[in-house]
Amino acid sequence: MSLPEKTKQWVVERFDGPSGLEFKEADIPPLGNHDVLIKGVVPVSDGSGVVISIGSDVTSFQPGDKVATVMSPWESGPLKQSNIDRLLGNALHGVLQEYAVVPEQHLISIPQNLSFIEGSTLPVAGLAAWNAINGIQGRPLLPGQWVLTQGTGGVSTFVILFAKAMGANVIATTSSTEKAERLREIGADHVINYKEVPEWGDRAKALTPGGEGVDVVIEIGGGATLKQSLSAVKLDGLISVVGLRGGVSPAEQPVLLDIFFRFCTIRIAIVGPQVQFKEMNRFIDSKGIKPVIDDRIFKLEEAKDAFEYLESMGHVGKVCIKVVNGD
Ligand SMILES: NC(=O)c1ccc[n+]([C@@H]2O[C@H](COP(=O)([O-])OP(=O)(O)OC[C@H]3O[C@@H](n4cnc5c(N)ncnc54)[C@H](OP(=O)(O)O)[C@@H]3O)[C@@H](O)[C@H]2O)c1
Repeated sequence: MSLPEKTKQWVVERFDGPSGLEFKEADIPPLGNHDVLIKGVVPVSDGSGVVISIGSDVTSFQPGDKVATVMSPWESGPLKQSNIDRLLGNALHGVLQEYAVVPEQHLISIPQNLSFIEGSTLPVAGLAAWNAINGIQGRPLLPGQWVLTQGTGGVSTFVILFAKAMGANVIATTSSTEKAERLREIGADHVINYKEVPEWGDRAKALTPGGEGVDVVIEIGGGATLKQSLSAVKLDGLISVVGLRGGVSPAEQPVLLDIFFRFCTIRIAIVGPQVQFKEMNRFIDSKGIKPVIDDRIFKLEEAKDAFEYLESMGHVGKVCIKVVNGD
C-alpha cells in the first residue's frame, strides 16, 4: 500500500474555543523508529483507527491492528509531572486529522466487540469514569453499593454502564425529562431532575437504604454541585471530582467545615494510567459493554459544529467525529 504524504487536520491557532480552530492540509512527518502511522477515524486526544504503517522498532502493533489513543505516557504507579507534560492532543499532536503519527506508547488495542467510533470514546471519558469509581487502591466499587452520577455526558454514561455491570445501584441527575428517560434506558435506577429539585442531594440520600447516603459520587459540576454531593454522600463515602462543568465560582463552593463534617474522602479523578486502561478494556470485553454515543455524529470538516453541540448540552453520551468512512 502506498503511504499518504499529506493529511487534513484541525490546528489550534488561537486559544479562544472552537473559533480559534483552523482546518488545514499539512505534510505527514516521517515516522520515527518507535512511531506508528494510523489512519484516524475519530479525533482530538481521544481517537481510534487502524494502523497502516509502523516504525522499525515498533513491537506492539502491526498494520491492520485496531487501536485507540492513550492520552498520557503514564503506565502505572503515582502520577508524575512528566506524565502530564506529554499529553496527546496537547504537547503531542492529537487526532483531529485524517492521518496521525503517534508514538507506540500512546496506543492501545481496542476491545474486540467495539467499532472505531465506540473505541474512540475510551481514552478520555471511559478511562476517567473507570478511574473515578475504581481508582483508589483497595477501594473498588462493590456490588450493592450506591453511586450518584451527574448529567448525561460521556463520563457519566460510562459510570452508569460500569457501575451497573458491577452490580451497584445508580442514582443519576439531569436537566430534562427527555434525558431522564434516556438515563433509565442506559441503566440508572433512579433519576432526579436537578432543575425541578434544587436540593437533589437530600433527595438522593433519601433513596438509599436507611437514608445513609450514597457510597460514591462522581462530581461533574464542580462548584455548586459539590454542596449537593456532600448532602448525598454517606459518612466515610467517596466523592470523585472529574469535572468543573458548572464553573468554579467561590461563592457557590462548600467551605472546609462543610466538607469536614461529612467525614468523607474527596479526590480529583483524572484519566487513569495505562494499567487501568487495560483493566477497563478487559471488563468491557467480559461484560459486552457498548459505550453510549450521541445519535448525531459529525464529519471532520464539522469539528467546530461538534464542539458547539457539546457546549449546548443537547447530547447524550459521547459526541463523536468520524474522520473517514468506516464503522
Ligand atoms: N478529570 C479528567 O481527566 C476528565 C476527563 C474527562 C472529562 N472531564 C471533565 O468532566 C466533565 C464531564 O465531561 P463529559 O465529557 O462527560 O462532558 P459532557 O459530555 O459535556 O457532559 C456534561 C453534562 O453534564 C451535565 N451538566 C452540565 N453542567 C452541569 C451542572 N452545572 N450541574 C450538573 N450537571 C451538569 C449536562 O447533562 P444534563 O443536561 O443531563 O444535566 C451535560 O450534558 C467536563 O467538565 C470535562 O471537562 C475531566
